[in-house]
Amino acid sequence: MAELKWWQKAVFYQIYPRSFADGNSDGIGDFIGMTERLDYLADLGIDAVWISPHFPSPQFDVGYDVSDYVNVAPEYGSLDDFKRFRDEARKRGIRVILDLVLNHTSHLHQWFIESRSSRDNPKRDWYVWHDGKNGAPPNNWLSPFGGPAWEYDQATDQYYYHFFLKEQPDLNWHNPEVKKAMWDATRFWLDMGVDGYRLDAIGTIFEHPAMLDHRSEWTQEQMRRALKNGFAHGEDKELTKKWDLMYGLQVDQDGVHRLMQELRVVVDEFPERMLVGESDDIEFYGDGSNELHLAFNFPLMNTKHLNPNWIRNNQTARLAALPPGAWPCNTFNNHDSSRMNSRYGDGKNDEAIARAVLALVLTLRGTPFLYNGEEIGMSNYRLTDLSLFRDPPAVWFYEKEIEDGSSPEQALILAADNTRDRCRTPMQWSAAANAGFSPEGVQTWLPVNPNYVQGINVANQQDDPKSTLNFYKRMLQLRKQTPSLISGDYTPLHETSNDYFSFLRRSADPEQTCLVVLNFSDKARNLKFNLKAGAARCLFSTHKSENEVLSLNALNVAPFEIFIGELIS
Ligand code: GLC
Ligand code: CA
Repeated sequence: MAELKWWQKAVFYQIYPRSFADGNSDGIGDFIGMTERLDYLADLGIDAVWISPHFPSPQFDVGYDVSDYVNVAPEYGSLDDFKRFRDEARKRGIRVILDLVLNHTSHLHQWFIESRSSRDNPKRDWYVWHDGKNGAPPNNWLSPFGGPAWEYDQATDQYYYHFFLKEQPDLNWHNPEVKKAMWDATRFWLDMGVDGYRLDAIGTIFEHPAMLDHRSEWTQEQMRRALKNGFAHGEDKELTKKWDLMYGLQVDQDGVHRLMQELRVVVDEFPERMLVGESDDIEFYGDGSNELHLAFNFPLMNTKHLNPNWIRNNQTARLAALPPGAWPCNTFNNHDSSRMNSRYGDGKNDEAIARAVLALVLTLRGTPFLYNGEEIGMSNYRLTDLSLFRDPPAVWFYEKEIEDGSSPEQALILAADNTRDRCRTPMQWSAAANAGFSPEGVQTWLPVNPNYVQGINVANQQDDPKSTLNFYKRMLQLRKQTPSLISGDYTPLHETSNDYFSFLRRSADPEQTCLVVLNFSDKARNLKFNLKAGAARCLFSTHKSENEVLSLNALNVAPFEIFIGELIS
């Protein structure tokens, strides 16, 4: 245990700043609000926060279009507000990591404004500019956010490349000046004491240098139709292949690992900092010590039905693939995905399933990342009017649905179910108007999910011992007090069951072995474990009492039970 780094022991909590807490009553989250909620986070029991981009931005992609890397968005506060947040977090033992968007800037970043001003501007080559081909873009590349990946710039008669929105031009990372400028920005926040970064969209940093046309036989419209019920990559191998054929030349290209190694050197100038990559590619761990500290295990969450076989297969593959010394990292939702509560439910036992998923992410080997609101069981919200959408790809999606013959009502529902806005609504703090996020009468930047009046809010759950919130607190506490759940190895048991998932976590120092049984089904079971230890002392169970000693020759497990016990000999 002692030799583990802080980020190996920590539970991270993602804050989506625009939606977390509104401290100045303008309908938008901010640093004053976040600072006021630090006691809540400390009490919840998390150890670190990842803050989605808080930088100045015209907000075409809710902050993932940065127009100044070394400042705070005015609507979120000032640098002083940030520093106060940092100091108050530190006082409570909470680490802070930020979001680093390397692939692109906002089209309103000073660098791009200069770059597009003329062909011989010194910053022209900071972005990816190309001549057109016979009055058309340089090639047929597309943006997964909708439409071509090239935007024509009339003033200089060239095209610039953007993997995401046209308001997010890609930087040219072959240019050493770009690197220098970005590493300076990286150091700016590390100097200010932040503990590391979540790296945005690193897979898109380089493009295939030959810039040849992709050879997908599918149109983007065919792809959109195929994806419209959600993209569960892991499950649909054919679709994944088609996606790679369309976008493969634009992602995961040579050079990115060298670049990550350079970034690691920058970050290592500062003690105890960490990097987590928004990529599930194991290669981002490098040799285990020279690239990123963590890369998200997205394949685990990329399924519509989370069942024990899926989890076991994922763990076997993932853990075996890690290079020596590399540490796993698991998560089930974030600001881009469907909320976990809405995703894995069966319509009848949603709450119990969501709790089993939390127990899973906190007991698997690796660093867990939680997403704000999941601790009170927030679910996806379906927007009711196109004018309320804030996520541009969803508006594109809507328009395509209409072209495709859907009625406006149908198109709206489909777009609302697909938009990333669904998981970005304001945090539900209480049963007061606007869920206590903003005062009554204030228009919040996205609507508040009306289910806050049905007990899906912090205040109501705080005092209810049976609430989801108190379940989270107990689980987080348990993890902290149980060394094998943090440092232990992983051994799956009963590997043929697709109803329940059981495994051991065993640590050497201190010596401890825990048995975890997560019943994902509505069937009761009586389980026999052939282990050297014949009994376990209950540390946590949704159905048994703490400290009860249970025989492992006949362990009764209730429907959807979560059982965590320490083996005793
Ligand atoms: C990442 C972010 C996503 C953003 C995209 C472009 O995938 O998580 O929210 O839209 O990068 O920056
Ligand atoms: Ca505000």
